[in-house]
Amino acid sequence: MNNSFGRLFTITSFGESHGSCIGTIIDGCPAGLPVSQEDIQEEVDKRKPTSPIATTRAEEEKVEVLSGIFNGHTTGAPICLLIWNRDVDSSEYERTRSLLRPGHADYTAFMKYGGFNDFRGGGRFSGRITATFIMGGAIARKLLNLIEIEVLAHTVEIGGVRAELKGVDEIRKNVEHNPLKCADPRAAEEMLKVIEQARAEGDSTGGIIEGMALNVPAGIGEPVFDTMEGDMAKALYAIPAVKGVEFGSGFSAARKRGSENNDPFIIRDGKIVTATNNAGGILGGISNGMPIVVRVAVKPTPSIARNQQTVNIEKMESASLEVKGRHDACIVPRAVPAVEAMIAVTLCDFAMRARLIPEVIK
Ligand SMILES: Cc1cc2nc3c(=O)[nH]c(=O)nc-3n(C[C@H](O)[C@H](O)[C@H](O)COP(=O)(O)O)c2cc1C
Repeated sequence: MNNSFGRLFTITSFGESHGSCIGTIIDGCPAGLPVSQEDIQEEVDKRKPTSPIATTRAEEEKVEVLSGIFNGHTTGAPICLLIWNRDVDSSEYERTRSLLRPGHADYTAFMKYGGFNDFRGGGRFSGRITATFIMGGAIARKLLNLIEIEVLAHTVEIGGVRAELKGVDEIRKNVEHNPLKCADPRAAEEMLKVIEQARAEGDSTGGIIEGMALNVPAGIGEPVFDTMEGDMAKALYAIPAVKGVEFGSGFSAARKRGSENNDPFIIRDGKIVTATNNAGGILGGISNGMPIVVRVAVKPTPSIARNQQTVNIEKMESASLEVKGRHDACIVPRAVPAVEAMIAVTLCDFAMRARLIPEVIK
């Protein structure tokens, strides 16, 4: 079993990019949570393609609620959420099915599934599958709202252009008004130019997303194997094209002295907090009450409109491939809601393990 995540709050993702549908089953959600189709749709709409960086798959991703929600509340039964695949054009995938796309999962999937996997549109390896994570994340966020935990994510770097670090209010205010989901409008303009340039050259570009969870109480996490970092990183690595995850000062901690990297403890408003947050809100795999801060490296879109060297796996001969069809020159902005979702799902599961969420919501 490898398509489910979580212990007490679980999501199971199903469907392929060009199959009949994609969907999520959410199990473990308490009864009585007020939620509507529109609430879930709002989250899914955050991954809508935004011009000028986006794919031309013009599909509306309309969420259908099949079970587990009745009269505007969760029932306690598994929640099944579904999106039909309607605007599907698999012709290009049929034409190039034996040509392994460099950077994509075609070769590894072939080796694992012996060629039986649905390769059309990337199948299970498509970025479209993140819509199933976002549907699970929509329910998780609602539950986290009950205990005032807020989850945010924003683009901090694309193609080497970095956003100036902003306060949380600016992130909340700017992220959804910006096609790049970047809280720094000036950096966003530069990022757009870099993406345009890459696209004009038949190429693509990557970047970094920062995720945050605020108001997480101290003491959540299950060492040693289900640490907060361990589970959250696992959830984030499920997002296709994620190639790095770091918490707090992350890899830069390796270049710091202890005196620089330690976060001094202080008392503020009668509570123990830390003066800095190099730990990214986690010590010993357990939340320390500071914001959880995680950064995710997203690689450049593998499918590029350039001639690339590859192999024809059926003929076992060298070949060249220029990927046609509908691909974003930069995946980063569309991965931002998926990062939020996976942080929310992880935290919701931990919150339930810590018994912070009641069995019935009244
Ligand atoms: C939101 C999103 C959209 C994506 N769109 C594309 C795409 O249009 N073309 C493509 O080649 N890869 C796309 N990807 C990335 C591939 O799915 C991914 O690189 C591939 O499955 C290989 O997995 P890996 O990069 O995690 O190793 C997308 C990823 C995400 C998160």
